[in-house]
Amino acid sequence: MATTTSPIGRSTLRVDGPAKVTGTAKYTADFHFPGMLYAVPVEATIANGRVIKLDTAAARAMPGVRAIFHRENIGKIFRSVPEPGFAGVCKERRPPFDDDIVRYHGQYVALAVADTFEAAKAAADAVRVTYKAEKPNVDTELIAEDDPDVVSTTFGPQHRLQSHRGDAEKAFASAAIKLDQTYVTPHETHNPIELHATIAIWEGSRLTLYDTTQGVVNFRSVLAQMFGLPAENVRVISRFLGSGFGGKLFPWTNCSLAAAAARQLGTPVKLVVSRKMMFETVGHRPRTQQRVRLGATPEGKLLSLQHDYVYDRSILDDHHEDCGEATPYHYSVPNLRVTFGRARRNIGAGSDMRGPGAVPGLFATESALNELADQLRIDPVKLRIVNEPKIDEGLGIPFSSRHFLECLQLGAEKFGWSRRNPQVGSMKRNGLTLGWGMAGCAWIAGRFDAEASVEMRDDGTARVACATQDIGTGTYTNLAQLASEKTGVPLAKVEVALGDTSLPPGPISGGSMATSSVVPAVFAAADAAIASLLSIATTTPGSPFERRKADDLAFEDGRVFVKADGPGKGVQFDGLLRRANLRRVTGNGKSGATFGDPNAKFSTHSFGSHFVEVTWQPEIARLRVSRVVTVIDAGRILNPLAGRNQIEGSVVMGIGMALLEHTTYDPQNGAPINSSLADYLVAVNADAPQIEVHFLEFPDKQVNALGARGIGEIGLAGFAAAVTAAVHHATGVRVRELPVEIEDLLG
Ligand code: MOS
Repeated sequence: MATTTSPIGRSTLRVDGPAKVTGTAKYTADFHFPGMLYAVPVEATIANGRVIKLDTAAARAMPGVRAIFHRENIGKIFRSVPEPGFAGVCKERRPPFDDDIVRYHGQYVALAVADTFEAAKAAADAVRVTYKAEKPNVDTELIAEDDPDVVSTTFGPQHRLQSHRGDAEKAFASAAIKLDQTYVTPHETHNPIELHATIAIWEGSRLTLYDTTQGVVNFRSVLAQMFGLPAENVRVISRFLGSGFGGKLFPWTNCSLAAAAARQLGTPVKLVVSRKMMFETVGHRPRTQQRVRLGATPEGKLLSLQHDYVYDRSILDDHHEDCGEATPYHYSVPNLRVTFGRARRNIGAGSDMRGPGAVPGLFATESALNELADQLRIDPVKLRIVNEPKIDEGLGIPFSSRHFLECLQLGAEKFGWSRRNPQVGSMKRNGLTLGWGMAGCAWIAGRFDAEASVEMRDDGTARVACATQDIGTGTYTNLAQLASEKTGVPLAKVEVALGDTSLPPGPISGGSMATSSVVPAVFAAADAAIASLLSIATTTPGSPFERRKADDLAFEDGRVFVKADGPGKGVQFDGLLRRANLRRVTGNGKSGATFGDPNAKFSTHSFGSHFVEVTWQPEIARLRVSRVVTVIDAGRILNPLAGRNQIEGSVVMGIGMALLEHTTYDPQNGAPINSSLADYLVAVNADAPQIEVHFLEFPDKQVNALGARGIGEIGLAGFAAAVTAAVHHATGVRVRELPVEIEDLLG
């Protein structure tokens, strides 16, 4: 295998960068088709009740309007169910317009279609809807409803007693040191800059969907079910994405509505969701309320850990917010119990948002650990070291690779943690009060099913294809790196094809698993292409390797050579192809999922630590995150440049989570009150502190041959707990409900 020229592990500029900065990269909403019409949904202005009357007469009479669709005329849309291989996943199962009941504010009740977007918008606004409204339930206090012990969720059945060992209650009761606190994380709304968008095109019984999707293959499976089509009749395309944060993992009602409208009208239909609709109809991170009870010895050894969490969900749907994901394995504790409950609310379906489950979960458990450290007057880093497990105690199996202690040690060293005076408000710099806090983090690692093809061509170029997507994080570049590594073709000569279900089926861009999933598939595809090449080399008349056995040959750095002679006497592959009059040699590769394997022999996770400094000016109540050191143990990093960028992005998002982000629903009408980017605050460049990112680079060969896990989500995990610890250190105020607001600190 190529070593000296290997692109793996090298800081590599995005291969799609020039297309993006020159504006030639086409995002979903950029596509245009002849005869294309524009659709704008009509949103319910109540959150609970019923549509009594829909008056579309005025809207229909407006110029340029082609149709106003509603329950009576949209045509048949079927329900979808989960299918094997992580397909058929959908967070809002009810097909749009399925009944007259309104269950959340903003639910689509009609759809205006017109020649222009402006005409469609005006028509949507002119539809008169009469409702019978009931008071919506958007209560923020979450009490678990009376669910059975095993509940069905969008990810299959889940036991509400999620994990248990020993006797957590008894051990808590008899522990010398106890902590019992409840932590709350608010609804958060994914706010990628690119709005969700769908363009639907029918040709007979074939449906093509251009969509903002983090998973073209899953979208195909859901849409095929909803329109009663064989999967091969549906094609889903997503060339470039302006991020998604998980909101674009699974199809929403805009997809099926655009497809249904295009079917009825016999012409392409584009539907771009508005920013306001983004707050209502395309998912959000659910609100969570998490009680954490810790029992410990005076030295800080954990004796008991109970994590009981409740999250809210929509009236009909079953998104599972798995706050207990990291709890059973993160620390060593002989007695543990993790349970969850759910409460229904009149809001749209919840969904996965960057680090779903574990991110709110780790806010609670890492906050509790920090509070325990303060209670015991033990350094929080030391408290974590004292409780380092030898194995995954939840599953009773070893970790494939865990270097959490090194994350803590390196982070503490780089941050200068030893200079911390634990006394609240005691540290000052330039007239500002400093607060220093830290937390640990963890996130799942594994693979989804993946297939890929690799072509080597007679002009010395290569092509790699996989129906995965690039949500902006660097998958185009990763695929190019992997193909280049195996074929020896320089990055600039590797064509990458992704984001299209006509390609070999690939993984969702989710769970931080796209990269780890495609490594073995691309490698297997390249190996197959190389094997064909060697056999061609031995059978082509006039080839320098004619009549050799393929087994005698090897391939390295783009050259075929006789093993015994060494690569020096090798021949470039493109020359061999030209001699054989072949345009290309192609290999297909396939690799299986490890994620969710009930018989896994190893527990595979990434780990990390965050060290955070805040500055506090009590005189003007100004709180800033000023400095961050994050250390990540995510196995081998394929592209340190893009990798660091991922972690920096999640640190900035973490500042938003800690200090700014929350979606607030009006108790009167159930509407998200702050449904705009002016009112829903996210951290921006001006909020970004000095960020230092370190990767540990211990390859995890259980995950794939390169030892690469994933880095998309881990940087957000635990971060908010480090911020609230720093806030407490600076101000003496313990904030257990995110985000930290200035009002919390005014005393
Ligand atoms: Mo991430 S929530 O798996 O896109």
